[in-house]
Amino acid sequence: MAWGLFTSILERESKQHIERVSLQGEGEPMMHPRFWDMVDAIRAHGLVPYTITNGSLMDALRVAAAFPAIGISIDTIDPEYAQRIGRFKLHRVLRNLDALLGVLSPNRIIIHTVDMGQPLEPLKLFLRRRGINQHMIQPLQPKADYAKRYSPGESPTWGACTYRCRFLAAPLMRYYDITGLELPCCFIKNTADFVSSEQLRQQLNQRIVPTCCQGCGAIFPHAKVELPAPSDMVTSR
Ligand SMILES: C[S@@+](CC[C@H](N)C(=O)[O-])C[C@H]1O[C@@H](n2cnc3c(N)ncnc32)[C@H](O)[C@@H]1O
Ligand code: SF4
Repeated sequence: MAWGLFTSILERESKQHIERVSLQGEGEPMMHPRFWDMVDAIRAHGLVPYTITNGSLMDALRVAAAFPAIGISIDTIDPEYAQRIGRFKLHRVLRNLDALLGVLSPNRIIIHTVDMGQPLEPLKLFLRRRGINQHMIQPLQPKADYAKRYSPGESPTWGACTYRCRFLAAPLMRYYDITGLELPCCFIKNTADFVSSEQLRQQLNQRIVPTCCQGCGAIFPHAKVELPAPSDMVTSR
């Protein structure tokens, strides 16, 4: 996101009743050339910054000074499996995590893991040994605009729709994409068919699933991605 767009959104949002601004998307937030300027600007507005990082570029002292809590993605501690799923810098990530633990309490670290059927016990043990208790494990997102990136064997099943989305029922989140488009949640990756939150509400009231909500866990509570047996797993990017 361009700097001017970011500051105009921040200026506007800081006048609303919000507490936390999360800098994240599908890319790596810390790759943004002005990431730390953004963090400073959020704090200068009296707001709390948050981010989920892949941990490869973490500056431990800066993180400790600026973030009350930080999210780090770790799906495995197995170097071979990490390589297969595209987490190419595992060694550096784990080294950075230990550097972070040297300067802040483990209570300020939240580990995010996607459950792709990999053994999770070694990772859980690794975190427990470091005193990290906040471990959020989520399934692979079954939404259509995520699933189109998956390997052919990873097919989603959605089941029945509730037509009630909590992100539309109340303003839980305002998400801005890099063009400044405001969305009701962070799950809409293909914005081509998105018009407005109001239109999504109207469609769901008419028991129509909006194109940009197809397969979303918020309205398809039984949706899941069928994964091939771990030994056959190959992730393409
Ligand atoms: C949007 S990401 C990206 C931020 C950063 N690049 C990283 O790797 O942490 C934030 C979280 O979403 C998770 N995520 C990404 N793709 C996902 C998917 N298809 N299904 C479920 N979670 C996913 C990531 O693993 C990460 O924990
Ligand atoms: S994508 Fe999901 S969370 Fe977002 S508005 Fe649609 S149903 Fe709700």
